[in-house]
Amino acid sequence: MIYEDHLRGTEASGWTIDSIRWDAIDRGIARDEPEILTGLRDAAMIEGYLPTFAPRMMLLLWDDVDATAILSMELYEGLKHYTALRRYLEVVGDRSSELSEKALVDARGGTHGIRYERTSIIKYLTHFMCSELFAAHFFRRLADQTREPVLAQLLGFMTRDELRHSAGAGALLKKRIAADPKVVDEIIEAAENFRHYGSDVVEIPLAEQNDFEAIMAMNRKIRQLCGLSPTEHLMEELSNG
Ligand SMILES: [Fe+2]
Repeated sequence: MIYEDHLRGTEASGWTIDSIRWDAIDRGIARDEPEILTGLRDAAMIEGYLPTFAPRMMLLLWDDVDATAILSMELYEGLKHYTALRRYLEVVGDRSSELSEKALVDARGGTHGIRYERTSIIKYLTHFMCSELFAAHFFRRLADQTREPVLAQLLGFMTRDELRHSAGAGALLKKRIAADPKVVDEIIEAAENFRHYGSDVVEIPLAEQNDFEAIMAMNRKIRQLCGLSPTEHLMEELSNG
């Protein structure tokens, strides 16, 4: 069962909210990195969007028991990330985070009109898988950039979580390819037209800006699943005129 493997990974992830050394945060360094704090605020907003995004996906995938279980994990860990990011911003004394609860509720409210069609399940699953991969690369980049050690550790944990989430979505897609190999074309098309679900709530997710490494990782992931990456597919199309 797909879920059981991923649940095991989640349970073994080894970090809890109390394992973060909140008292050891160096506020001076953290406040000296305003761009990183902006990134954390955006990330918190995206993670805090999961209570409306994940149920929408679950309702779409209600008859795929593994998918609903994988999404429950995403919801649980997404809110764990949201909670940790908010706590970090609060400890640092980031004034903008005082508004974040209202901002988050407003952002969630702005997504009420979004409807997902059953006929596009593959597209949404692919976008979900790629969004998680982009999140992993985004957190990894911030972990490399920050000079604040507690944040670097937290981002390291979250990077690994996001890689697992992406792998979970990949396993769901693999099951669908095994059932119907034709879905490969839909996956490649969805990857070529990738849209980060975080852009429902954040104007331009920082994760999407020129993230060459994430784009290459997405190519590799799609190639693993489909035998062809979006870039190769594009080149094939060009050479076919
Ligand atoms: Fe995630």
